[in-house]
Amino acid sequence: MNPATDKKWWHDAVVYQIYPRSFMDANGDGIGDLAGIIQRLDYLQRLGVNLIWLSPVFRSPMDDNGYDISDYQDIAPEFGTLAEMEQLIAEAGKRDIRILMDLVVNHTSDEHPWFVEARRSTDNPYRDFYIWRQPAADGGPPNDFRSYFGGSGWQYDEASGEYYFHQFSRKQPDLNWENPRVQAEVHKMMNWWLDKGIGGFRMDVIDLIGKEVDAQIMTNGARLHPLLQEMNKATFGGRDLLTVGETWSATPEIAKLYSDPAREELSMVFQFEHITQTWDEEEGKWRSRPFCLAAFKAITDKWQLGLADSGWNSLFWNNHDLPRAVSKFGDPGRYRVESAKMLATVLHGLKGTPYVYQGEEIGMTNVRFECIDQYRDIESLNLYRERTAAGVPHEQMLAGIHANGRDNARTPMQWSGEANAGFTRGRPWIEVNPNHDQINVAAALDDPDSVFYHYQRLIRLRKAHPVLVYGDYQPLLSEHPRVFAYQRRLGGQRLLVLCNFFAGRASLTLPAGLQQPGEVMISNYAPRDHWRGELELQPYEAFMVLLDEADCSVG
Ligand code: GLC
Ligand code: CA
Repeated sequence: MNPATDKKWWHDAVVYQIYPRSFMDANGDGIGDLAGIIQRLDYLQRLGVNLIWLSPVFRSPMDDNGYDISDYQDIAPEFGTLAEMEQLIAEAGKRDIRILMDLVVNHTSDEHPWFVEARRSTDNPYRDFYIWRQPAADGGPPNDFRSYFGGSGWQYDEASGEYYFHQFSRKQPDLNWENPRVQAEVHKMMNWWLDKGIGGFRMDVIDLIGKEVDAQIMTNGARLHPLLQEMNKATFGGRDLLTVGETWSATPEIAKLYSDPAREELSMVFQFEHITQTWDEEEGKWRSRPFCLAAFKAITDKWQLGLADSGWNSLFWNNHDLPRAVSKFGDPGRYRVESAKMLATVLHGLKGTPYVYQGEEIGMTNVRFECIDQYRDIESLNLYRERTAAGVPHEQMLAGIHANGRDNARTPMQWSGEANAGFTRGRPWIEVNPNHDQINVAAALDDPDSVFYHYQRLIRLRKAHPVLVYGDYQPLLSEHPRVFAYQRRLGGQRLLVLCNFFAGRASLTLPAGLQQPGEVMISNYAPRDHWRGELELQPYEAFMVLLDEADCSVG
């Protein structure tokens, strides 16, 4: 990349993700809503974020909390109205915050009018909007593809005697992207939203739309990139927006295909290697592997260096599908505050666009419900049923859900220590985390040393220092078993980031060339006055230093 000519407004931006159901309930029905988000915009402005990625708010039967859309051009009544959505766009705009809508077009709801029509008969004009196949010779599903949410990926349709294809729940039939009419309808809908002044799209499981079902090729199909280029041309291409694809299957090489500006596809993609590194190779997310710093370093180096010259990284620790950052990668107990700040420092120091998931900025943690009935997530509930029926013990599945279940991120935002964490005056759709008496926004805003103000500072630093945005990335102390360290360099400037990833102390000595004076920009302990000689880092200690520019005139 040539930073002088290729700067984009979203390079120094920070995105905040809102899961609307759990953010703020304004009308007391126990479900977060648009009016609630509008009430909290001042809070987000104070944090300093530039965009909100809004998880889906469209009309939906809520089988998968809105990732099953029955009308792309209307708002779910529990969230509000289209007028309130327009108000949100306008009110956010006044605070220099743009809205990213969640584009869920790998599939629709089975209650979407397209599917309702498609189901009527095999010659209905909408039939081919979806993927239908004859049963196998034995009458069973056409092949053994499994849905991500458990069970077969094929659902039998009595009326026509055919199966339809769904990678997620059976209420989420996959769209047939080989049909040009599907493309045209989706493009039309996207333009309708763009004309409302949104800031772009987050694209749900976008790497699946080029699928070749009969060949059982789901990700990275041959048509994927041409489809995205066509979408870019027909919709957001000329508009200078942010687009980010959810791509679990991306490698750095593939990420460049999406995000090299010359290819005119997306601004960037989410890759998940640092996440799946903590999952069991066989059983996936339901059995955890301990965090491995060496593996994390290798993955970070690979992505930072891989996209150094073309393409752009998205940076995140968690989202609505993942456990809370501090529970997964830090210490949710004794060192909660220190480790939450350390993780923030590592991430915001890297090259790319950071994403903050609601509650991360106050160090919210995972929840440990003891009873399966306290959970709401279709994925956890389906897989619990399927696997316990197959003999996996309750305790083992519950341990998997505690570690990696999606409801960890979906308990209500903790606004205060009051009843229901100040999220609702009614009964919340999912129980609040009992630790809201300790961990909440009101307490964070009152405490100058809180995780909140650390995020606020990091976000400001990115705006003030181009080296954080455009500086190149160079790993340091690669072999160190406890410390993650790197430098960023731009022109003569060098910025040093040093983080202890563990609760034990860590000692280290920096390469001689980096032991020179500078200014500590941020830290989670009392700021250091030197980094010469041997240093001992406190538990989860993290700091950033802007080194004084070397004075070449002095020998
Ligand atoms: C994505 C979403 C997830 C959803 C799935 C199906 O992974 O982030 O929440 O369940 O796609 O739409
Ligand atoms: Ca509500």
